[in-house]
Formats: sequence, structure tokens, C-alpha cells
Amino acid sequence: MSHVTVVDHPLVQHKLSIMRDKDTSTRGFRTLLREISLLLCYEVTRNLELTTKRIETPMQEMDAPTLKGKKLVFASILRAGNGLLEGMLDLVPSARVAHVGLYRDHDTLEAIEYYYKAPEDMSDRLVIAVDPMLATANSATAAIDKLKQSGAKDIRFLCLLAAPEGIAAFQEQHPDVPIFTAAIDERLNEQGYIVPGLGDAGDRMYGTK
Ligand code: PRP
Ligand code: URA
Repeated sequence: MSHVTVVDHPLVQHKLSIMRDKDTSTRGFRTLLREISLLLCYEVTRNLELTTKRIETPMQEMDAPTLKGKKLVFASILRAGNGLLEGMLDLVPSARVAHVGLYRDHDTLEAIEYYYKAPEDMSDRLVIAVDPMLATANSATAAIDKLKQSGAKDIRFLCLLAAPEGIAAFQEQHPDVPIFTAAIDERLNEQGYIVPGLGDAGDRMYGTK
């Protein structure tokens, strides 16, 4: 069973509450998503391995800690994943990026793929898949399937809101992939939306309907 980490930092919780508010503007929603992604990125990368590098400060030589291994891959599940991706790239500018284009069929709630592009040598890198919403988990599980087909072995999934039903479905399909989220909400409604939730993340980010 994959581990679930709820990022309960007060700044994350405060920003998330403003994002949930239906009166928050498109511009405000986008800004907050970018800000919150920095804090979530901090948590999801907390236990990255370090090595040391010999450097010279103006005072003396030292073995300074630096990140070990190959550059990370951030995998954005389009479209709303891009809202998290941008802030994460601010924090880890050298990360490689994969794009997984998926949308939910509104009737069946199945994830329909329309685009996929990932870096080579995925098998040697930590891959962090990002999407603000884990609802039925159809999108996230399909995205992780694709990343695994590309060779990814070490994957984490980062979202903003998760439904209990989505967490259970995700863990069933991908027990090896830890989940990081800012909150676990009550449930899914009959239309597959998270409640209380924040509505449709992509629409709120981009001002579409
Ligand atoms: C939203 C969201 C997730 C998905 C979650 O995407 O960004 O990708 O729904 O729902 P699920 O867990 O039930 O699959 P949407 O299909 O609305 O596409 P968009 O990001 O392009 O707006
Ligand atoms: N996708 C969203 O954007 N919001 C939900 O509540 C569920 C799926």
C-alpha cells in the first residue's frame, strides 16, 4: 500500500482555503496555485539523497552537500498539472519535464489520452507526477501507467486535493507510488467531483467552462 502524506503546513492550508472559495478570481486562483506548488514541492523533495562536492569558500575548502543522482523529472498531467508544474520549476529549474495529455470524458469519467512526451532515460530518474485533483483517479492511474511504460521506476504523485475513493483506487493500481496531497476531502459526488473540493481545477485556472 503506497504511503499518503498530507502536507498540513499552515501556509498551504490557508492558501488552499482561498482557492476553494468560489469568489476567488481566475487570476487569484492561478497565483495561489503557483505559490502553493512551491510549498508542496519542498515537501515532496524533502528526502532527496545528497552527496558532497569539494568546493572552496572564500575562507577555506569544504565538502558541501549537493543533490545526488540524475536530474528529476516533473510529469505534468494536462491541463491543470501545469499550474503545479510552473512553481515546481521555479524551485528546481534544472528538472526535466514530461507532459501527459489526458481529459476526463464527462459521461464515463474515463481518462482519454491525447498527448504524451517524456524525456529519455526515465528509468534512472525520480519522476514526480503532478495534477491538482485526484478524484476517481482514472487520470492519475493512466498517467502513471504511461510513465511506467516509458521506464520510470521511482515515481511520486503530488496533488492538491484527493478524494478517499481516488486514493483507494490509486493505491490498488500503483501500490509502489507514494501520494502527497494538501488535503483529503469528504467524498466524490454523483458527477465525479470532489466535495467540498474547489470545482474544476482546469476551468478555474484558465477561466474556461
Ligand atoms: C481534471 C483534473 C484531473 C482529473 C481528475 O482534469 O485536472 O486531471 O480531472 O479526475 P479523475 O481523478 O476523476 O480522473 P480534466 O479532465 O477536467 O481535464 P483538464 O485538466 O484538461 O481540465
Ligand atoms: N477534476 C476537477 O478538476 N475537479 C474535481 O472535483 C474532480 C475532477
